[in-house]
Amino acid sequence: MEACLLENGEHVGGGAGATPQLKPVPVEVDTLKGRVALVTGGGWNIGRAIALRLARDGATVIIASRNRDNLSETVEYARQRDLDLRSHVCDLTDPQGVEGLFRDIWASEGRVDILACLAGGFGAGAALPDTDPREWMGVFARNVYTTYLCCRKALPGMLERKRGDILTCAGGGAFFPMVGVHATAYASAKAAICRFTDQLYAENMEVPDLRINCIEPGMTLSPIDLERIEEEEKASGRPHPAREMNHSPEDGAELARFLLSPAAKILNGRILSVDEDWWRDPVAVQQVGKGDLYRLRRNYL
Ligand SMILES: NC(=O)c1ccc[n+]([C@@H]2O[C@H](COP(=O)([O-])OP(=O)(O)OC[C@H]3O[C@@H](n4cnc5c(N)ncnc54)[C@H](OP(=O)(O)O)[C@@H]3O)[C@@H](O)[C@H]2O)c1
Repeated sequence: MEACLLENGEHVGGGAGATPQLKPVPVEVDTLKGRVALVTGGGWNIGRAIALRLARDGATVIIASRNRDNLSETVEYARQRDLDLRSHVCDLTDPQGVEGLFRDIWASEGRVDILACLAGGFGAGAALPDTDPREWMGVFARNVYTTYLCCRKALPGMLERKRGDILTCAGGGAFFPMVGVHATAYASAKAAICRFTDQLYAENMEVPDLRINCIEPGMTLSPIDLERIEEEEKASGRPHPAREMNHSPEDGAELARFLLSPAAKILNGRILSVDEDWWRDPVAVQQVGKGDLYRLRRNYL
């Protein structure tokens, strides 16, 4: 008998006479039961959708960001659905805040198995000469520095266990010009996150079950945008064109979930976007996994 994972998340050895009381399912089963996930920015929009998705799939989830109300609302939503999700309020650009967050998780859970760095966001959206230097650096801080600080704390435990998953978050402008908006801060911060992901992977690629990938969740309306759009739709009686152009937060959550699944085992150091769906095809996933596609690389003639 092969080793099994019970539906309650416990492993059962293959010893003679082992008679599990619950129905055994293969170890490769796609469950997050027993795994501890930290989702930064998990109280709002895409981060929230990812946090809820991971909790629904069995993980113990901790969400962290600054806005207490958004965090509490998400915790309450999860509580009503019996999901294992709690929050920690902190500014993730503050190294002391990040220390406190990890101390809290280590005390209660002992480890972080999955780190999803969704904290970030747009800003300093003015023509370059008109940007405020502190605001410009602030965009870098909330995207790049938060990612760095959280990876710095999560990685040692993952290296010790030789297992873990890190998801970083890219965005518009990391690869393509954002035409019609001023976005030097945001675009370069997101490009930096892609390179950070690639380098962190390269430095740890020998660790057998450590995956470090980046998601690009695509243009996604926030709950506030949606409220405005719904009002405009009521007034016009027509669907708002913005709906066509945007993804739902759950699309980003689906991509994140895929990258945490056994089906994505072969993908490491990659940047995947919700704007494409090759990753839904297992054959394409194997092809990509064997080459250097979806990494940051120069294209030579
Ligand atoms: N929405 C889009 O169209 C889109 C497209 C591509 C990529 N993205 C990226 O996807 C991620 C989530 O975007 P979103 O649209 O769902 O949210 P968002 O409106 O960009 O909000 C940013 C998230 O980051 C958190 N955050 C920002 N600064 C923080 C800090 N100093 N400390 C802790 N948390 C901080 C915020 O929480 P608090 O305010 O509670 O701190 C919030 O949860 C971001 O990295 C964003 O850049 C978004």
